[in-house]
Amino acid sequence: MYILAPSLLAADFNILGEQIRETERAGAQYLHIDVMDGIFVPSISFGMPLIRSIRETSGQFFDVHLMIMHPQRHIKEFAACGADGITFHLEAAENVQELIRQIHGCSLKAGISIKPGTPMEEIFSYLPFVDMVLVMSVEPGAGGQSFMPEAFERIRALRSYIDAHALSVKIEVDGGVGKKNVRQIIDAGADIFVAGSAVFKKRSISDNISQFMEAFKEKEGIR
Ligand code: DX5
Ligand code: ZN
Repeated sequence: MYILAPSLLAADFNILGEQIRETERAGAQYLHIDVMDGIFVPSISFGMPLIRSIRETSGQFFDVHLMIMHPQRHIKEFAACGADGITFHLEAAENVQELIRQIHGCSLKAGISIKPGTPMEEIFSYLPFVDMVLVMSVEPGAGGQSFMPEAFERIRALRSYIDAHALSVKIEVDGGVGKKNVRQIIDAGADIFVAGSAVFKKRSISDNISQFMEAFKEKEGIR
């Protein structure tokens, strides 16, 4: 089953609750929450108080993407304010195994992410221990960028490795994902699709999401 994870970063914060409910009604099972610290990436987004507050609005899986240094300092607090899964960056982790243990110790799903320039092989040895791997298809730090075509090959390489080793880790893709490339990304082997601009901008949220759902149904039919 394919999953859509709308990225909050592109939402209209004046009417945030309403927009989140619209994504849930339209069939988005996850909500992707980008936390930026101004150090790991240049920009600063939002953090715990926002997550705590929207937790009351939504029953979706809160997929927290930490683009921060020293992620180990904040796991407990993100768990307490309502995260269901925490993804950290390999490039920011001081002790990857310890961080995974910490996330699982809070009864959350653990994800590991890599930037477009980090060799894929660096992540392979951790795959048996995580629930999800997040492939960045743009340089992390901002919404609205174009999908980097090199990501297709990286997703394919990851899919081959996961299948060859009979692992159950899910592949999530983040950055520049839209209705135009979602089918190709599915074919490359992804399971979870983060989309910010493609969900919250242009037409209505429900129209946008129904186009993703159509692509998912079509591909699930021929899986
Ligand atoms: C980028 C973030 C993404 C971003 C995606 O650093 O990790 O989740 O919000 O936005 P779009 O879908 O607009 O590329
Ligand atoms: Zn993200």
